[in-house]
Amino acid sequence: MSTLKDKIILVTGSSRGIGATIARQLAAAGAKVIVNYAGGKDAAQQVVNDILQDGGDAIALQADVSKGDEVKALFDAAMEHYGRIDVLVNNAGIMINKLIKDTTDEEFTRQFDINVRGTFNTMREAATRLSDNGSIINFSTSVNRIMLPTYGTYVASKAAVEQLTRVFSKEVGARGINVNSVSPGPTNTALFTNGKSDELMARLASLSAFNRIGEPEDIARVVVFLASDDAKWISAQNIGANGGMA
Ligand SMILES: NC(=O)c1ccc[n+]([C@@H]2O[C@H](COP(=O)([O-])OP(=O)(O)OC[C@H]3O[C@@H](n4cnc5c(N)ncnc54)[C@H](OP(=O)(O)O)[C@@H]3O)[C@@H](O)[C@H]2O)c1
Repeated sequence: MSTLKDKIILVTGSSRGIGATIARQLAAAGAKVIVNYAGGKDAAQQVVNDILQDGGDAIALQADVSKGDEVKALFDAAMEHYGRIDVLVNNAGIMINKLIKDTTDEEFTRQFDINVRGTFNTMREAATRLSDNGSIINFSTSVNRIMLPTYGTYVASKAAVEQLTRVFSKEVGARGINVNSVSPGPTNTALFTNGKSDELMARLASLSAFNRIGEPEDIARVVVFLASDDAKWISAQNIGANGGMA
């Protein structure tokens, strides 16, 4: 499979979880991949090493996406290394699960700084620096469709990402750039499994038509398609990758 041959793709938060699997699948499909990380330097380098070992091309670059100056430096370094960026995958995200009454100012700010400001920061750079006819894939969540206690600030941040996605698609469409969001259902990563009982995991698995939690590979395959030219007529959409969850 070489549908992404010669595309240069930046994946935020790809040191582990869904992002790491996206980076590996994009590279396997022929893309050159910028593996962005915040704190997981060794994990990010391992993703790069695995890609290089399989004959692909990748580099690891540190940047906290919530910081505008770090995102600018990330674009500078990526473009210095590869010459351009064709596709931006805004995968980096965190989830703070708290009842609204227990959520502190600091937790609210951190949730929005990484999930919303992080997506905003990279799109602001991409507005002028992503290649013409490029693609942007943002990350929302399918739990926006159900009302789970303790998910308030998380789903609010992802709803903001979906709205930014729709508006931005109209702002960069003239350059041929399509912008979409992917909404995974519950997926087997640390973000989802941390602190969950077996009973809750089983209940959430039962929401899918296939009675299972998603795997990072399930989500990455959707991103590989959206990053390809075959998906160019899809823009301003939010695509559920959730095994038929509500
Ligand atoms: N797992 C699910 O069930 C699920 C469901 C729906 C949506 N999602 C969304 O899918 C995306 C990936 O989630 P995941 O489950 O793979 O999470 P994860 O396993 O916790 O991995 C998160 C990744 O984001 C990076 N990251 C965190 N803060 C960052 C920052 N400030 N700047 C740059 N990178 C940062 C982490 O890098 P470091 O380790 O280097 O800090 C890590 O690589 C998120 O947007 C999440 O909201 C996940």
